[in-house]
Amino acid sequence: MEEAAARAAQLRQEIEEHNYRYHVLDDPVISDQQFDALMRELVELERRFPELQRDDSPTRRVGGAPRAGFSTVAHKLPMLGLDNAFQLEELRDFDSRVRRLAGLSSVEYFCELKIDGLAVSLQYEEGRFTRGSTRGDGFTGEEITHNLRTIRQIPLNLPDPVTAEVRGEVYINRADFEAMNSLRREQNKPLFANPRNAAAGSLRQLDPRITAARPLRIFFYGLGEHNLPVFTHGDLLAYLERLRLPVNPHRALCRNIDEAWEFCCEWAERRSELPYEIDGVVVKVNDLALQERMGNTARSPRWAVAFKYPPEEKSTRVLDILVNVGRTGAITPVAVLEPVLISGSTVQRASLHNEDILAEKEVMIGDTVVIRKAGEIIPEVVRVLKEKRTGAERAFQMPEKCPSCGAAVHRLPGEAVRRCFNPSCPAQLVERIVHFASRRAMDIEGLGPAVVRLLWREGLVRDLADLYYLKASQLSKLEGLAEKSAANLVAAIEKSKGNPLHRLLFGFGIRLVGEKASRLLAEHFLTLDRLREAGPEELTAVPGIGPKIAGAAIRFFQAPETAELLDKLAQAGVNFNEPVVEGDTAGERVLEGKTFVFSGALKRFTRHEAAGLVTERGGRVSPAVSRKTDYLVTGAEPGSKLARAHELGVAVIDESAFLELLQLQ
Ligand code: IVH
Repeated sequence: MEEAAARAAQLRQEIEEHNYRYHVLDDPVISDQQFDALMRELVELERRFPELQRDDSPTRRVGGAPRAGFSTVAHKLPMLGLDNAFQLEELRDFDSRVRRLAGLSSVEYFCELKIDGLAVSLQYEEGRFTRGSTRGDGFTGEEITHNLRTIRQIPLNLPDPVTAEVRGEVYINRADFEAMNSLRREQNKPLFANPRNAAAGSLRQLDPRITAARPLRIFFYGLGEHNLPVFTHGDLLAYLERLRLPVNPHRALCRNIDEAWEFCCEWAERRSELPYEIDGVVVKVNDLALQERMGNTARSPRWAVAFKYPPEEKSTRVLDILVNVGRTGAITPVAVLEPVLISGSTVQRASLHNEDILAEKEVMIGDTVVIRKAGEIIPEVVRVLKEKRTGAERAFQMPEKCPSCGAAVHRLPGEAVRRCFNPSCPAQLVERIVHFASRRAMDIEGLGPAVVRLLWREGLVRDLADLYYLKASQLSKLEGLAEKSAANLVAAIEKSKGNPLHRLLFGFGIRLVGEKASRLLAEHFLTLDRLREAGPEELTAVPGIGPKIAGAAIRFFQAPETAELLDKLAQAGVNFNEPVVEGDTAGERVLEGKTFVFSGALKRFTRHEAAGLVTERGGRVSPAVSRKTDYLVTGAEPGSKLARAHELGVAVIDESAFLELLQLQ
């Protein structure tokens, strides 16, 4: 037994050493197989001698059952934000304030990259990682120890028995983010807009196994409560590094603000060389005693400033302009670009929105253009660099015929887009199936755009209803669909048969009948048959349904193709009813007349689900806080809406108060 304990301790130390070499230093000295063998030996020892099991063992990095919710952690010292500077002038103003407060003619600064991820705090007690949390609202955060433990760069034990709170930024590398999103695209899961959101979403998982599968990384940049022997910020980072905590290598001690400015300029140029995203540089007073003397305002320390970079813009060439046919037949131009790396991902396409915008920006094939990605997945063309024209550029003409089916396209008066009106246009049908399967409609996991196109090419689907007649044996023959995923896909399609009517209605993609109208109609009529028979008066009698939506619904239900489609769906056993759950408060309009705004991520629902719960109960959801707002519901990291709500005296409630209002708790 003693022997086993000694061996286990030795294995743990070796494993952590190799983890550090591999994940932090990027300099492994043993092969993956050798590493796995050490892990297996430790797992086996801990299985044979359960008394040897302990929380800080590397075998426990991914462990335990999924949590029911997060508990909160009060930060002993608040996790503050930073003031921003955008120009040299503002940096100089910061420096003047610092020198005035310090009573010094010159102050040393330490510059670091501002990593675009999310802030976390980790508590180490006598060298052991005991608890980790998110920043939350700065005063309390969510306890995410189990998720942080899955990050291999984080040591479970420090080489010294140090007690301190260390702070850092969790982030995802651009390349990992791209790989993650392309997998999600295939699985028909919603894409993350940027690496930051992906990191935040990954850390806020209740099941650590999901977090473990995400490529999270971390850089440490500061301390909370501690009594470590450090006197300058530079020392502090060197000390963290000695504790084997990953610290960003691109940092510099600057003798004055001009040198700090140089650092900011250098990384503005070089930011695209980095494998991760930065949104600026943090300039900090180097002397920790001086930091302490200067103190904080309510929101941010007086001794630091974030020099922020503008959203990344890149120039590239337009190789071609293609047109896309959407599910409503809208024909939109898209620029095909020479691939460039921008804001975390390689970009090859940019939206040109519609022909008016295309004409206004005067984009030609062969042009060099500036593109920008401001949070969205698809970037936009900002402007053409006309001085780079060589004369070889070609003007682009919007087609007179649909590129998919060849039918004539028309632009209706008052509309910005041309449309193809052919009801059996293949491009539209494919897009309609993609929409039908999408998350907010029938939510068929595994049926993303690529799989729909494959099914179409193979002639296995021609309309929505064909999905319900697919067999696993047909699918598993297709290239790129293994037997397992074929079976999963058939199961996901089968499961979707039981969806409530409002999802089906939304999935039909009837013009003007969005998610909200679908719900209103489904909840009012309860069955598809009653809805089909409703005339204009009956439809417009439903609160929230106007004559335009009513007209669109009637046109859809009167079309001969619709009758055929509905018959096929009914025969396949697709549910046509909206469930009325007994005792469900959804039927009672308990939130009638109340307006809600959401800010920050909720734990129990997506924003969409939460909005659905409010509207089901007769309430309204608005995107921004105004005097008309009754409640601001805050999740984690609520952002600027919170300040606005305080300003206007709007009631701010958290998720559990929200659940109570919904009568779900
Ligand atoms: S220092 C009290 N250093 O930026 C100052 N922050 O806008 C604490 N961040 O919440 C922050 N890289 O999430 C600091 N090298 C760095 C940083 C950094 C990213 C984030 C951090 C913080 C936010 C402030």
